[in-house]
Amino acid sequence: MEVHAVNPWVALAYLIAGVCFILALRGLSSPATSRKGNRYGMVGMAIAVVTTLATHDIASLPEILAAIAIGAVIGLTTARKIQMTQMPQLVAAFHSLVGLAAVLVGVAAYLNPDAFGILEPGGLDILKGSRIEMGLGVAIGAITFSGSVIAFAKLNGTMSGAPILLPARHAINLAALAAILVLVSLFHWDTPALFWAIVALSFAIGFLLIIPIGGADMPVVVSMLNSYSGWAAAAMGFTLHNTAMIITGALVGSSGAILSYIMCRAMNRSFFSVIAGGFGADAGAGGAGGTAREQRPWKRGSAEDAAFLMKEAENVIVIPGYGMAVAQAQHALREMTDLLKEHGVNVKFAIHPVAGRMPGHMNVLLAEASVPYDDVFELEDINSEFAQADVAFIIGANDVVNPSAKTEKSSPIYGMPVFDVEKAKTIFFIKRSMGGQGYAGVDNEVFYMDQTMMLLADAKKMVEEINKALTD
Ligand code: TAP
Repeated sequence: MEVHAVNPWVALAYLIAGVCFILALRGLSSPATSRKGNRYGMVGMAIAVVTTLATHDIASLPEILAAIAIGAVIGLTTARKIQMTQMPQLVAAFHSLVGLAAVLVGVAAYLNPDAFGILEPGGLDILKGSRIEMGLGVAIGAITFSGSVIAFAKLNGTMSGAPILLPARHAINLAALAAILVLVSLFHWDTPALFWAIVALSFAIGFLLIIPIGGADMPVVVSMLNSYSGWAAAAMGFTLHNTAMIITGALVGSSGAILSYIMCRAMNRSFFSVIAGGFGADAGAGGAGGTAREQRPWKRGSAEDAAFLMKEAENVIVIPGYGMAVAQAQHALREMTDLLKEHGVNVKFAIHPVAGRMPGHMNVLLAEASVPYDDVFELEDINSEFAQADVAFIIGANDVVNPSAKTEKSSPIYGMPVFDVEKAKTIFFIKRSMGGQGYAGVDNEVFYMDQTMMLLADAKKMVEEINKALTD
């Protein structure tokens, strides 16, 4: 493969692709502009791929087109088949492929450096200089691969979400990471054993790092692995002298790191405690365990009660959560808010940053049901309005409205910012049973409050009944 390293047109094309990726990230930061953002990303990727293919003699065109066609068919069928609630494991599976790709590119470049243009005339030093990045890229790629496979298995229920805590795991992990760093720094010696040791140790450490992390923290892990996959790609970009890969990798790496930080903050978890693992062992890890439910009085409401009170209300705030996603109740919910608006009710949606199981989960579902973006508010923008709300309508949310996060130091969600639903005059709480728990597996004081009416049913069925009562 020949490299036209200093061709200014190539540099310009990669720069334009990089700008498109930045505009894509900017667009994706709001549901209103996300489609535009996606389009920028597709244009940027098309420019980068076409430029690379046009300037590198990589493989014959039919081979490339066949590979693209196979990938496109797999991608399209997966995207069409996948349920919204399975999105986190799909993302984990895709990250594992990015990690594997980085490892395979690194192996190919190591075994055949002149074909990758790394060994340029008189360029043994270039090869040596590239080796550190190559070692890092392969190491991060291998960690991403095996870590993502475990994250996929835990999220998919293929393996238990409970943390697997090996004795002395911190010492083992730190020693293995230190060993990888030493091996990478020694990699300027041309010893194949060093290269393969880095690969093997990194695959193992990816596995060891993720097994102690409980299912409850897995979405943060997926976002962290997303970040790793970006750094792996950036490191391989340095090895291959490809600026598009360096820019894209750095963007993915840093945006993934920022997202992990935001998610940790929204869940009141420190980044290091997530990495150290062990959360969810006794807190329920996805609602599997949990505390014994208190036997306290609570009130049951009906769809007719909800319809009657909401029709009479001035302000209603809807708080959707994971259960709305499970029930796919977003369309019925949109219909309900339309009916209420016809009765002159002011309806707003309150979205918690970690409602559901992935960042933006609720926003995506509400956008799918054509809920106007102007009706959707973030936690900090709407929390003060619960005091003036006539009705807080909780649909499949639980942890994000649990006041124990504010008061009980022993609660696993203590410190997580939550909605002040208890300040609303009336609360309707849709869930399927009093026994079912939220992700953190803790009881919720809101169930037993004087102003709360429990609407026990599947969210979609309950909202459809409310809609019927509103139209009758
Ligand atoms: P959860 O606390 O998980 O509560 C979900 C509720 O939905 C439960 O009360 C469940 O009760 C109910 N439910 C389930 N299926 C239902 C159905 N078909 N119809 C009606 N109700 C149904 O949800 P949340 O309030 O959205 O909180 C999210 C949690 O996930 C937080 O603890 C958060 O930290 C964690 N988490 C989120 C993320 C991201 S990025 N979103 C990442 C990691 C962790 P029943 O079983 O009784 O129906």
